[in-house]
Amino acid sequence: MKCCKKEGTVPVSADFIAQKYAEALHSDSRGIVAGTGGARFATYVPREGAPVSPEMLESSFGCGDPVAFSEIRVGQTVLDLGSGAGLDLLLAASKVGPSGKVIGVDLSDDMIERARMNAQAAGYANIELRRGAIEELPVESASIDWVISNCVINLSADKERVFQEIARVLRPGGQVLVSDIVAENLPFWVRRSGLLTVACVAGAIPEADYLAGMRAAGLQDATIRGRMHYSPSQMAAVVLDSLSGWTRWLNWCLRPLISALAKPIAGRLWSVRVSARFD
Ligand SMILES: C[S@@+](CC[C@H](N)C(=O)[O-])C[C@H]1O[C@@H](n2cnc3c(N)ncnc32)[C@H](O)[C@@H]1O
Repeated sequence: MKCCKKEGTVPVSADFIAQKYAEALHSDSRGIVAGTGGARFATYVPREGAPVSPEMLESSFGCGDPVAFSEIRVGQTVLDLGSGAGLDLLLAASKVGPSGKVIGVDLSDDMIERARMNAQAAGYANIELRRGAIEELPVESASIDWVISNCVINLSADKERVFQEIARVLRPGGQVLVSDIVAENLPFWVRRSGLLTVACVAGAIPEADYLAGMRAAGLQDATIRGRMHYSPSQMAAVVLDSLSGWTRWLNWCLRPLISALAKPIAGRLWSVRVSARFD
């Protein structure tokens, strides 16, 4: 199978990724994924009556809006891989209603805790948070109607395993709607960067490999449903934010260099909306 091995090699541990997301959650500079100055990877589709508060948007690290493009129905069971602070959990819960169920899985204790608080504050009793890895889901086989995920699978060091786990937990007839970052031919210095891995850049794989990985895991009709491209200035902001541990003046000195280097990355990396089903 041609999936995920060469280009999507992630040079950091899962613990490092969880730690960096916990830091980003508590940081007021937002850092890492979202970038500053409006350089977000994500855009949420505006909708009436949905639980999307400015505070929830602030703690969102996604690169799309999977729930908006799903056909999640009342009474169904939804699983969100890498659920973070829980915005997509709330959106899914508003679709499945009290008779349905939404499960969020995340590596980070801080993210799990924040999502639990957000679910309680929004009054959803049918959202369940489970700490765990998407490569070894703490979820019963054949129990899920919809798998959603927002900007997480690119972070995995074993994407083949993630796709196999998705196929395992879906019921026959179950569906997948994932937003994620994909990339073609990223420069070597990008691929080797741990911080750019956390920023959802370095671990991204080509679209064709993503789809091949899903198909090889037994998912059917794996299809790219939409793409979102980023401008060089958005990419520069993401790269600069990934250096958030550096002193401000050094960051400032590096700005022209990073801006120049971000240009080639911008054309090689984009967000996709991917669907598939399991029969
Ligand atoms: C880019 S954030 C996206 C969070 C959320 N989906 C959102 O849209 O805001 C990535 C999330 O995935 C979690 N994560 C990263 N790798 C993971 C893994 N292998 N297993 C489970 N969770 C993981 C991180 O802790 C973080 O909360």
